[in-house]
Amino acid sequence: MKRLNVRHILPLLIIMLFLGACSKENPTNTEESSATESSEEGTSSESNISAGESSSGAVDGSSESANSSDTGDSSNESSNESGSSDDDNLSVDESSAEIMSSSDDTTPFSEVAALEEYSVLNKAGVPISKTSDAIKGASETVTDALPTEEITEGVSVDGGKTLEFKLNDEGNRPICRLSGIRLWIKGGASENVEITIHAGSKSATTALDVTVEWQRLFVKFPFEEGEVNGSETDNLSITAGDEALTVADISLVVLDGEPLLSCPSVLKEIKIESEEDIRTLIGKLTDEQKAAQICMAGWKAETASDWVGKGLGSYLDNDRNVSTFITNYNNYQQGVIDNGGIPPMHSADAVHGHNYMPNAVIFPHNIGMGATRNAALVERVAEVISTELAATGIRWNLSPTVAVSRDERWGRMYESFGETPEIVAPLAAAYVRGMQKSGKIAATCKHFVADGGTTGWAKGVAPDDTQYPIDRGDVALDPDVVKAIHLPPYKASIDAGALSIMAAYNTIQGEKLHGSKYWLTDVLKDELGFKGVLVSDWNGMWLIEADRYNAVVKGLNAGLDVLMAPFDVFSSNGGSALYDDVLKAIQEGAVSEERIDDALFRQLWVKWKVGLFNDPRAEENASSVIGSVTHREIARQAVRESMVLLKNEDVLPLSKSGQKIVVGGSHANNAALQSGGWTLEWQGPKADNVNYAGATTILDGMKEHSSEVVFDETGDNFQTDADIAVIFVGEQPYAEGVGDRAAADLVLNKFDFDHDNSSQIDPGDQLMLMKRYAEAGVPVVMVLVTGRPLVVTEQIEQASAFMVAWLPGSEGGGVADVLFGEYNPTGTLPQTWPKTVDQIPINKGDNQVPLYELDDGLSY
Ligand code: BGC
Repeated sequence: MKRLNVRHILPLLIIMLFLGACSKENPTNTEESSATESSEEGTSSESNISAGESSSGAVDGSSESANSSDTGDSSNESSNESGSSDDDNLSVDESSAEIMSSSDDTTPFSEVAALEEYSVLNKAGVPISKTSDAIKGASETVTDALPTEEITEGVSVDGGKTLEFKLNDEGNRPICRLSGIRLWIKGGASENVEITIHAGSKSATTALDVTVEWQRLFVKFPFEEGEVNGSETDNLSITAGDEALTVADISLVVLDGEPLLSCPSVLKEIKIESEEDIRTLIGKLTDEQKAAQICMAGWKAETASDWVGKGLGSYLDNDRNVSTFITNYNNYQQGVIDNGGIPPMHSADAVHGHNYMPNAVIFPHNIGMGATRNAALVERVAEVISTELAATGIRWNLSPTVAVSRDERWGRMYESFGETPEIVAPLAAAYVRGMQKSGKIAATCKHFVADGGTTGWAKGVAPDDTQYPIDRGDVALDPDVVKAIHLPPYKASIDAGALSIMAAYNTIQGEKLHGSKYWLTDVLKDELGFKGVLVSDWNGMWLIEADRYNAVVKGLNAGLDVLMAPFDVFSSNGGSALYDDVLKAIQEGAVSEERIDDALFRQLWVKWKVGLFNDPRAEENASSVIGSVTHREIARQAVRESMVLLKNEDVLPLSKSGQKIVVGGSHANNAALQSGGWTLEWQGPKADNVNYAGATTILDGMKEHSSEVVFDETGDNFQTDADIAVIFVGEQPYAEGVGDRAAADLVLNKFDFDHDNSSQIDPGDQLMLMKRYAEAGVPVVMVLVTGRPLVVTEQIEQASAFMVAWLPGSEGGGVADVLFGEYNPTGTLPQTWPKTVDQIPINKGDNQVPLYELDDGLSY
């Protein structure tokens, strides 16, 4: 046998393949992301090699050499593919870059002509860049800007008999259904050598004609026997019989182009027009494609574009700019379409508006919508939110929260419509109807189930993140009681056609909901007949148990259909990567094929229902839709109807003239405080974004009605001659468990927490201003801006009127409209109001005497 010569330490080159159009369109493709991805995804090359060695290889194409008479057209190419050998010897020296620039030499690579770009290093080690035209010989650009890592990644192992290498995987595009590899390889000795290419479980062998010094080979994998997919191609290797092989012996390696370009090409073959089509589609998916569908990742445009070929099922979150997002989103979806893939469903927590989008309309949080008791209004509000979402391409709203909220200490009380199923159920159903009316958006009812009914952690089952005793606590109730209180909103929502439901972080009698087959499958899917997609909460499946893989298996077996792990689909912060575990669960059969296919069916069915298969693109005119005047007017009406008047000693409504009105307090001129959590950011607007774009503060609204409004935020502009003082006080923003509080902290004027709960802040003496005006003989109207009832019993004594504004959102003018009597207050309490801290939690019918009853609310 011949020992291959190691003459030059230059050459290796490898390729890279791309989804040409997509990579060009996406401006945010970074090397950084590709580096991360390849290290995340890399599997042991040794295991790949051994898998390859155990499988059979097929050979197609002995040697195909450069032929100076080649015309470069594809017909020639196909004859080469079929194995014809019209080799001309090709001697290569340091100037061999020219070989690639000659049209005569382009034929063997014409498969990749569909690629808009690719990059290689030539045999002389000079990086060259070619466009598809260049492949045909039209032009060539020499640049030294291309990555060169491939040279060092070609490693001789196994005593030099095997050369391992990685694809130059810039952009992270996975290789699906790799059918072959073509390469330049160095021969030129006296004995014949067999060249074997290994890719994952596939290998293929061909003979090297040793009489030719440099020659092209096309080694074709046995495609019919199975496809070489995804991570299997992360590590490739070439062996040459018993001979030592180094990078110097190999020049350009080109993966066979066409199949690579059409990774999940199923949609090119199947048009989804029926449930049967969905089943056919599922039947054609590879394990990798199935695993990818089940994973929901966090949106990061630059990473997402690299995941096109992986075919991820869904994303969460959006860029914080309408046009940036639409550009990124449309480029991304176009890449998927071009690639024949399944469009991913993009989700967002549009909890009270398209609330992470600057200039979007922010509606009252649900507690305020609950106070309206107006199902038609809730439906209209949801419809408006859906319009703003759909304009930007988002098709999956992770809202509404349909919790029956039983505990004021819970940081999510404001996301709930109220404390009884009678209040919540009809509003939840109305929201679902409005959200899904256009047929473009799936509403998600959450969190299943009884998230509003926890009482603290169950003994011994506190989650690892022991910060949120209520939000992730235990529901100690018997299942029948849970069903009576907490299931009706789900029943109503499902009847209204809810397409999606999210599992809850909490436990019921110590059992994690994410792992509870009883609640997720027996009750939700079987008893309630839920046909849509059941999504985990953020990393929620990993709360089931410490071992991530086992947790994933349990969650899927319990009934979860989509797993949300925004930061960890492909990386492994603190454990294994989600995608790897789902794939393993599929491949090892830890979750049955039937269960996996059911999970996929549900998700794909929802995608079909929201029209993603017709056109997943966002509207180009979204900027004019977001925050439109019409939408703001609907939000303002919602604010008006959410106001609850609880005390009025004939001081309200205010007069539009002839009355000097002091407007004061920390919450009067601050859109951040009037909007609360889930606004621009998870925990609410940052300190420098207090009066964010498009918002009208309550003070602005007050000034619209009277020219005699004077602002005295803290008492520095004290008005002894005022006729009336309207003081706005309340809570700091928070979201989720960050807002969990001890009952003793649910009083005004206590230290509160900053918006990310990192430190305590002194909200200022919110009560002093009220006290000063009251002592100066100025009647005081106290308006509470809050996400839940607070104990304000003493303060109300000092005030001549008391009104609750909840968290009205961007349209502060609606609060002013009611104070000035333009609209008579009609809101009623959706929560029983405690008189003292030791009454908390308090609910109707629990034998406590509250300050105000559920349903209380006055009019003028
Ligand atoms: C919340 C969910 C939310 C998800 C995605 C979780 O922490 O509990 O309500 O939809 O994050 O942001």
